[in-house]
Amino acid sequence: MSNNLTVHPKGLYVLFFTEMWERFSYYGMRAIFVLYLAAKATGVNPGVGWEKADALALYGWYTMMVYVLAVPGGIIADRLLGQKKTVMLGGILLCIGHFILALDSLQAFYVGCVFIVLGVGALKPNISSMVGSLYKRNDPNRTKGFTLFYIGINIGAFSAPLLVGYVGETINWHYGFGLAGIGMLLGQAVYIWGQKYLKGIGEFVPKQLDAQSGRIAKVPLTKIEKDRMIVLGLTFLIAIVFWGAYEQAGGLMNLFTKESINRSVGSFTVPTSWFQALHAFYVILIGVPVAFIWNQLRKKGKPNSTIFKMGVGTIVTGLGFVFLAKAAYDASTLTSGQASMLWVLAAYLLHVIGELSISPVILNFITKLAPIKYVSMMMGLYFCASGLGNKLAGVLGEAAFEDSSPFAIFVGITVFCVVFGTLLIVLVKKLNALTHGADVEIESDPVEAA
Ligand code: PHE
Repeated sequence: MSNNLTVHPKGLYVLFFTEMWERFSYYGMRAIFVLYLAAKATGVNPGVGWEKADALALYGWYTMMVYVLAVPGGIIADRLLGQKKTVMLGGILLCIGHFILALDSLQAFYVGCVFIVLGVGALKPNISSMVGSLYKRNDPNRTKGFTLFYIGINIGAFSAPLLVGYVGETINWHYGFGLAGIGMLLGQAVYIWGQKYLKGIGEFVPKQLDAQSGRIAKVPLTKIEKDRMIVLGLTFLIAIVFWGAYEQAGGLMNLFTKESINRSVGSFTVPTSWFQALHAFYVILIGVPVAFIWNQLRKKGKPNSTIFKMGVGTIVTGLGFVFLAKAAYDASTLTSGQASMLWVLAAYLLHVIGELSISPVILNFITKLAPIKYVSMMMGLYFCASGLGNKLAGVLGEAAFEDSSPFAIFVGITVFCVVFGTLLIVLVKKLNALTHGADVEIESDPVEAA
């Protein structure tokens, strides 16, 4: 396919590399977070020596908080600084946070985490909104811009567990955290250097002042804006459902893979943690082809609205769990007690096809639908919803080991996602009407856009 990279503004590449390094630092530290806390406090590479459950509990809160803090991150951008400066501030907080983690002390670990939570909250929603600002609202290259940006995210997410994980686990935890910090420093350097390509993007837009009182005039939302906000609210619900299913990866699917999947390839046993790099690997592999297929369908006039894609994505993700249900069934019936790893590979593939039909698309959708003065706040709310999805995933995962079973949870997620996604598709026309045309892409140049 010809995805002509020159059609994108240079600013996209600045944001691409900044976010790639930010995600490298984030996923790098995340990869060793629980391992460090749960590692014995003695020996050559001492950890903190916590119980696994305690380490997991802190991890759950931490991964939720980084995205919940995206809400104040968005509000600060809307009300005070603009997105560009808030991203700069977030980057500084992240550099400080990661380097504090490189210090060998538990107190430093807590302080470093606080900086990271604040830093991701300031950076992540606002850098995503800035991608949208690089394009006109109905430019077809805009969708491709978000796809490329998403691939950048995943290059960082894929390489980090391999590099930071290796250094942290086998050499020294704090060198690992330090390496994540160097990644963030590179991201910040790219962002500072690239300011010249971001002129007029993500600037602070002062609110209209009331002529008489001198206070901020409370311009009410129009009917169209209100309708679009309703659709965005539904989008957040979809985000909770989708991430609640998808994020089983790090928890239940991870433990299930460790215990119930045959990971031997000849004489080699694939480490369980390697499966955690699969999502990002698949995104890099099929990110562009999936976007291409959606684009071809759009050109052929097939249903292609964002809501439709989200419906399909939810169903496909749900169907991925059929493979896991089969694996759970095999594991409980085969004498070896272990199912083939092909089921897991297939499940992750379907999850990523679902992800690519939902996640980059939602980022784009928010920047198209939200009234300009609320873009950052709505982006923040979306990340918050994804944080709640992460927490939901944890709760479902715990249930699999308490009153339920992995098989029942996998079947339950399949049914729920398929019904929910089908409902979205059934309602697609009504919901699209509420967007009042904001989701329509105009084909400016059919050759370029291919
Ligand atoms: N891989 C995505 C990212 O790190 C996952 C994600 C999506 C995280 C949405 C938060 C919100 O950006």
